[in-house]
Amino acid sequence: MEEDRIKWNRRFASEDSFLGERPSPFLRQEIERIKRLAPGMTALDIACGEGRNSVFLAQHGFLVTALDISDVGIAKGRRRAEEAGVRVDFRQVDLDGYHIAESFDLIINFNFLLRALIPEEVAALVPGGLLLFDTILESPQLLATHKPDYLLRHGELVRIFAAYDGEILFAEEDEVEEQDQGQGNMPTTRLFFRKAGS
Ligand SMILES: C[S@@+](CC[C@H](N)C(=O)[O-])C[C@H]1O[C@@H](n2cnc3c(N)ncnc32)[C@H](O)[C@@H]1O
Repeated sequence: MEEDRIKWNRRFASEDSFLGERPSPFLRQEIERIKRLAPGMTALDIACGEGRNSVFLAQHGFLVTALDISDVGIAKGRRRAEEAGVRVDFRQVDLDGYHIAESFDLIINFNFLLRALIPEEVAALVPGGLLLFDTILESPQLLATHKPDYLLRHGELVRIFAAYDGEILFAEEDEVEEQDQGQGNMPTTRLFFRKAGS
């Protein structure tokens, strides 16, 4: 949606990076297992923002396609990839109603929630493909200030992925005390899924 593009362009417009330069700790934690289990080296970064995770995956040898609605975020991602000396195929797209036409060995969905896209993501995995999900979990404080559509319910991610043919390799819900909640320190839910092989 155009309003998402405008909102995120504003956030990414400052010199600093919105979510930091370093890749997500969950991705760093799992990268060796990802490389061991991935059936191939194609990866898709859903809502890549400024590309911190796309660049990290490319540095680990993945052929990365990175999608986001924000042209400002994508421009920063392209700059980062160039500085790091890696290639990432950044594409500006609106993921609302988006159809993922290609197949991937790895898909990551970090800090972004569009429930309707999850079936598309699973369908876009090759047999044995991996999907990592890491996004914000509901809390009473967040429910007072955020749209419920953007927050995962307790147990929801596991319920969603348990219905697919495959296995959940890792799942956790990371609660944060109310007084400690803030930008960059949110209650989070993470999941690592492997689609059934052929
Ligand atoms: C919190 S950022 C996460 C960025 C990245 N995944 C990361 O962890 O560094 C959320 C991202 O979702 C993107 N976004 C929001 N609505 C979108 C939409 N409808 N289509 C595509 N991207 C969207 C924003 O532009 C922003 O880059």
